Amino acid sequence: MKIFLIGFMGSGKTHWGKLLADKLGLPFMDLDTVIVEKEGKSVAEIFSAEGEEYFRFREKDVLEEIVADTGHFILSCGGGTPCFFNNIEFMKRNGKVVWLNTAIDVLKERLLKERMTRPLIREIGDGELRLYIIRKLGERRMYYEQADVMINEESITLEKLIPLLLKEPSRDEIVDSRERDRDV
Ligand code: S3P
Repeated sequence: MKIFLIGFMGSGKTHWGKLLADKLGLPFMDLDTVIVEKEGKSVAEIFSAEGEEYFRFREKDVLEEIVADTGHFILSCGGGTPCFFNNIEFMKRNGKVVWLNTAIDVLKERLLKERMTRPLIREIGDGELRLYIIRKLGERRMYYEQADVMINEESITLEKLIPLLLKEPSRDEIVDSRERDRDV
C-alpha cells in the first residue's frame, strides 16, 4: 500500500501521516526529510543556494526513487509536490493520493508560527500571510483536487481516516470542498 498525503503547507500531512503509519503498521516517510538527507542541506538552504527550480527537480527524482525502492509507505509530500511536472499523475498511478484540505484560517495560524523553515513564506509579513495562502491555494487547488480522496482536516479522526483510505474515490466530496472555501 502506497499512500501519498498532499496538501498546503501546514495542512497537517506529517502529523496525520505519522499517526496513520503507526496505526496501519506502515513505514512513515517525509519527502522533504529524504531530500534534506540526500542533499545534506535544509530545504531553506537548498532554495537559497540552488534555487527553487533545482529543488523541484530533486523533489521529483526523490519521489520517483522512493516509489521504486519502497513497497509500502505513508509519504508526507511537500505542499508543492503535486503541482510540478507530472507528479500528481505519477502518484495516482502508483498508489492512493489523499488531500488534507485544511481551512485557510487554520493554515494561517499554523504558518505564522512555523514560517522560518519554509522558504516560500519566510519573507511574508503577518498581515499578508492570509492573502498569500488564498492566492497560492487558488493556483494549487486544481492539482490538489485530482487526489483520490479529500478530507477536511478539521473533522479528521483516525477512525474516519482509515476507512476513507480503503474505499473508492468520491469526486463529490472533492467538489463539495469548494463550498467551504467559497467566501474566503
Ligand atoms: C513547499 C512546501 C514545503 C517544502 C518547500 C516548498 C511548497 O513542505 O516542500 O518549502 O511549495 O508548498 P511542507 O508542505 O511540508 O511545508
